[in-house]
Amino acid sequence: MKIKKTMSSSTLSTIMIISFLFFTIIDVKAQSCSDEFTKIVERKNITECKILRTLGAEFGWKCYNGTNSTTILEILFGAYLESSEGWIAWGVNPGKRAEMVGTKALIGVKKHDSSMMLNTYDVTKETKRGCALVPMRDIGLNVSSMSTQNEGSNFYTIYAKLVLPSDVYNITRLNHVWQIGYEINNGKPLNHPTTLHNVDSSETIDLTSISGRSTGQYRSFLRSVHGVLNIIGWGTMLPIGVIIPRYFRVFPFHRDPLWFQLHVGCQLTGFLIGTSGWIIGLVLGHSSRYYIFHTHRDFGILIFTFSTIQMLAFRLKPKDTDDYRKYWNMYHHFLGYGLLTIIVINIFKGINILNGGSKWKWSYIGILICLGAIAFGLELTTWIKFFIEKYNKTKSNNSTVQPNKDTLEDASDKKKQKE
Ligand code: HEM
Ligand code: HEM
Ligand code: HEM
Repeated sequence: MKIKKTMSSSTLSTIMIISFLFFTIIDVKAQSCSDEFTKIVERKNITECKILRTLGAEFGWKCYNGTNSTTILEILFGAYLESSEGWIAWGVNPGKRAEMVGTKALIGVKKHDSSMMLNTYDVTKETKRGCALVPMRDIGLNVSSMSTQNEGSNFYTIYAKLVLPSDVYNITRLNHVWQIGYEINNGKPLNHPTTLHNVDSSETIDLTSISGRSTGQYRSFLRSVHGVLNIIGWGTMLPIGVIIPRYFRVFPFHRDPLWFQLHVGCQLTGFLIGTSGWIIGLVLGHSSRYYIFHTHRDFGILIFTFSTIQMLAFRLKPKDTDDYRKYWNMYHHFLGYGLLTIIVINIFKGINILNGGSKWKWSYIGILICLGAIAFGLELTTWIKFFIEKYNKTKSNNSTVQPNKDTLEDASDKKKQKE
């Protein structure tokens, strides 16, 4: 009954922490385009615009019916290109998926003097294998009015008018792809980086919806949910659950059986929240075709396995009086502390993969500082209490030895008197 009560209060506080993190770390509101981009959108008479979910890119568009069952699409694509040379690209893919191979692209190549050359390209399987990407005049889109613009501060835009044949392109489900590369050779774009952001830069967009509704957005959201659940479950609840037996079981504070109820409550809540985050990670990992984060995944599997073994304590914990209880204690302590180390490492690995800015890193460093400060305070209390008790003990020992000495002296006096 008491365990249930402690568990429900720890669940309540966890829900509160989760909601707090959701609102601080995850951007729930739809972002509007930057001022810089909006100005050009207005100048070009483009009607819609949205921030793309990776590489800090922005996309504006306007579409209307052309002749012979075609759609005229005016696009404006903008992104920062910090390096002295490099390229920015945007394109459409007539195939089934929004992916690199098969993309008909517009690529703006930035040269050393900051000027940008814009051309059309056909991105093929060979390109992915490393064959040079050369401009191609006819990419089946009748591209016109191409221009690039540099708004200072390395923000570059590409503008063009395309004619999309309706039998090949469906504007309510248009596969579009964007990319940024930092290397060129003789004006030819070279390979781009392959971080999560670079391989997650495609989506299927509905150009007829005002906000540019797209599929693929849910992946970013799930990644954030995965991060938050893992940080709360493994990264916060489990360490709190370890601090409790360390300082409240025997010394400096003896709170029996409250320490046990709180330990089990925290570890069970942490395990359940962490496991749901871990499952989301596995689902995301399974559905991403182009990349596997081996170390992060292996550490994740290790974390789940070790904590499941720890949870077996529910059924396999020997009684206090059993002979082998001390061995169980040793393994439970050792595995517990080892687990905490891997968890912290893996959380920072995950944050690195997400590459989502310093918000994640500093939020978790904040949590670690709080937990560290609490543990440090309790450790200090332990040592202070230990030395005070030792001092008192020595003092009381001395004062109990004193009367014995007196008694001995009394006895020898009495003996002398008798003699
Ligand atoms: C310049 C030549 C290019 C080379 C050598 C190249 C190479 C690659 C490679 C090797 C990958 C696979 C990464 C992995 O599996 O870890 C990849 C992925 C990707 N690239 Fe490129 N790329 C080039 C140009 C482009 C362009 C111009 C675009 C966009 C218009 C683009 C968009 C993408 C996207 C969205 C992915 C994610 C996976 C996919 O959709 O296939 N790439 N690229
Ligand atoms: C992932 C889950 C768990 C982790 C990471 C974990 C970790 C730990 C750690 C590190 C300690 C030692 C703290 C110290 O004194 O320095 C500890 C103590 C203890 N834990 Fe757990 N624990 C978990 C789950 C459980 C469960 C489910 C139970 C019981 C149902 C349990 C029962 C105990 C007991 C009885 C002690 C005290 C052992 C002793 O007498 O020294 N633990 N735990
Ligand atoms: C200790 C806590 C964590 C565990 C156990 C864990 C576990 C996992 C697992 C098993 C995967 C699948 C890997 C694959 O198959 O490629 C994964 C993917 C991932 N994790 Fe974590 N993770 C943790 C923390 C985090 C954190 C804190 C973040 C970010 C804030 C994060 C971000 C990611 C990302 C971005 C992916 C790739 C998803 C994708 O493939 O689309 N993880 N994680």
